[in-house]
Amino acid sequence: MATDKLGLEFTAALPETAQAFNDAMDDYMVFDGEPVGHLLATAEVDPDFAMGYCLTGCLRLFGGVSAAHPRINLELRAAKARRSRVSAREQAHIDAFERAAGGEMCQAGQMWDAILVDFPHDMMAAKCAHEAYYLVGEAARMRQSVQNILPAWHDGVPYYGFLLGMGAFGLEESGEYRAAEEMGRRAVAMDPRDCWAVHAVAHVMEMERRGEEGIAWLRQTSEHWDHAKWLRGHLWWHLCLPLMAQGDFDRVLAIFDQHVSDCDKDMVTRLNDCTSLLWRLELNGIDVEDRWDQLVDLWADHINDHAFALADTHIAMAMVSAGGEKKLGRFLESQHAYIEGESNTNGQIMEQVGRALCEGIIAFRRGDHALAAEKIGAVHDQIHRIGGSNAQRDLFRITLETARAKGA
Ligand SMILES: [Fe+2]
Repeated sequence: MATDKLGLEFTAALPETAQAFNDAMDDYMVFDGEPVGHLLATAEVDPDFAMGYCLTGCLRLFGGVSAAHPRINLELRAAKARRSRVSAREQAHIDAFERAAGGEMCQAGQMWDAILVDFPHDMMAAKCAHEAYYLVGEAARMRQSVQNILPAWHDGVPYYGFLLGMGAFGLEESGEYRAAEEMGRRAVAMDPRDCWAVHAVAHVMEMERRGEEGIAWLRQTSEHWDHAKWLRGHLWWHLCLPLMAQGDFDRVLAIFDQHVSDCDKDMVTRLNDCTSLLWRLELNGIDVEDRWDQLVDLWADHINDHAFALADTHIAMAMVSAGGEKKLGRFLESQHAYIEGESNTNGQIMEQVGRALCEGIIAFRRGDHALAAEKIGAVHDQIHRIGGSNAQRDLFRITLETARAKGA
């Protein structure tokens, strides 16, 4: 057995595996480094490291990789093959990972929450629950997940500040802005590299339309989050929202080119940011020139994924905006087949909400504003189910209002 930095035991054959797990979690907290790389390298030399397979697989899923991707299957099989030889806590992690890979993110979140009842310092469970709920728009559960375990945490527990950052975001998405801002600022004061806490405070300012403060907050903290390979593009995206509200579109385009668009095809969350920003710019009447073209190429590998409805809606935006009718057609056929063949919750969300939003987006871009208003309006009270944040989904509210105004 090995012990992580929070004192939790896990199965491993080599003493250095504990260090690899701690390094991966450290990277994960600050959205930096290569946590998957650490874990895969360790599994090569310590193949019984079941938690490594779980964390690797979950990081891929949370990053937007399709559950059907062969790597997810490999990691799940590797973890399950060792299930009988690991502790009950590790078995629960394997089961939760399997549920998440099965398209049941909310249930997986509840399984990670159940681990926290007995092991409230299990940061991997806390973080996985947080991510899972975020991906299916379960704000109240995201808030409660952290609230449940906070009494067991204090300054002396490693990652305490990072837990506060997660708590701040759950509070913000639940509309508790004062408590969220206080908790988020506290977390940033404890560790300025806590870019998820920076992000939570930026969300508060965005939701309260405190544009000047939001710009100042992100600018003053940027030196500490620009290291964060996996989140910095999204924080730059956040900076663009108040700049756009002020009409500073040249600056937004410059930030897009310099800080948001520099992502590769595997960074699905970043592709969402790029797409959302271009869509919002066009809603403001700004010519984004040929910027859609590169984005469509990056999305091309994901048209059969259907990992999350939020991503599907953004693929539809990019495909229809770039005029890629063939690719758009293939994407819609693939989405239809996915809905027909998939009965899990992800498939239901796609069928009940995601498809209508895609149809609305496509109609809007083609100038059929009445149809766009009908499609998006029909599901507007369920849009949270596609996951992401209130600020990300605000794009549909703006599109719906624009469609209604133009279609009237
Ligand atoms: Fe955000």
